[in-house]
Amino acid sequence: MLVSAKEMLEKARDGKYAVGQFNINNLEWTKAVLLTAEEEKSPVILGVSEGAGKYMTGYKTVVGMVNGMLETLKITVPVALHLDHGSYQGALDCIDAGFSSVMFDGSHYPIDENVEKTTALIKICRDKGLSIEAEVGSIGGEEDGVIGKGECADPEECGRIADLGVTMLAAGIGNIHGAYPADWAGLSFETLEAVKKRVGDMPLVLHGGTGIPEDMIKRAISLGVAKINVNTECQWAFQKATRKYIEDGKDLKGKGFDPRKLLAPGYDAIRATVKEKIQLFGSNGKA
Ligand code: 13P
Repeated sequence: MLVSAKEMLEKARDGKYAVGQFNINNLEWTKAVLLTAEEEKSPVILGVSEGAGKYMTGYKTVVGMVNGMLETLKITVPVALHLDHGSYQGALDCIDAGFSSVMFDGSHYPIDENVEKTTALIKICRDKGLSIEAEVGSIGGEEDGVIGKGECADPEECGRIADLGVTMLAAGIGNIHGAYPADWAGLSFETLEAVKKRVGDMPLVLHGGTGIPEDMIKRAISLGVAKINVNTECQWAFQKATRKYIEDGKDLKGKGFDPRKLLAPGYDAIRATVKEKIQLFGSNGKA
């Protein structure tokens, strides 16, 4: 059964480790993340962007697929199904479809509007026992080939959103989605410390988990980060392994074309990446 991310994140915060959010795109991705988390005895969060939700034909399909796998793969570790960077309507749709957690990304709205929309969603999530993540200070990243600098959140604005009663808070601390540029200044621990001081016990979320050096990951966890999102690294691993399989001509061998064989190396590569991250974040053995 899917669970809210609340309890797993509070345990992670208290135990000084982080739960990984791994974004899923299809059946192989989902199975790879679930089986690896189970093998590592780790709680896990399946992230679904609105685009990935559409690709998988809608949130209801995602919920059906994940619930089916929890049962048939006999998954015993806590699993949350979480909307990643949702719009207001997207969050409502996921709640309706049966997600156990949502992120409302109101970081591009003026703070008052972010507060208003987040407040409305908190009420709905609280009534249904779901967890909710909010964001302050946009997470930069690559868009149309231009790499934006990660913004640093205003600790006071973080405090305002945290005080509303969200389950977890994503604060921009110079992190970005996708590859980090060669001249990246690194995470702003000064910002993270100031945010933590203002929001107290609130579990913090670090987006853009791909490519952050290990020492920074560990320091961020020691300063209150309890959830780390990883997406691009799994995509890189998947495409590298699948391309190699094609380049080696293996897809042309045997009888006909078998998509299960073609996707298998990518699936194995995701499993290896997720395992490495779970161990780095320290959530192995915690479920
Ligand atoms: P990366 O793609 O950089 O791993 O970031 C993932 C993320 O933060 C999803 O919300």
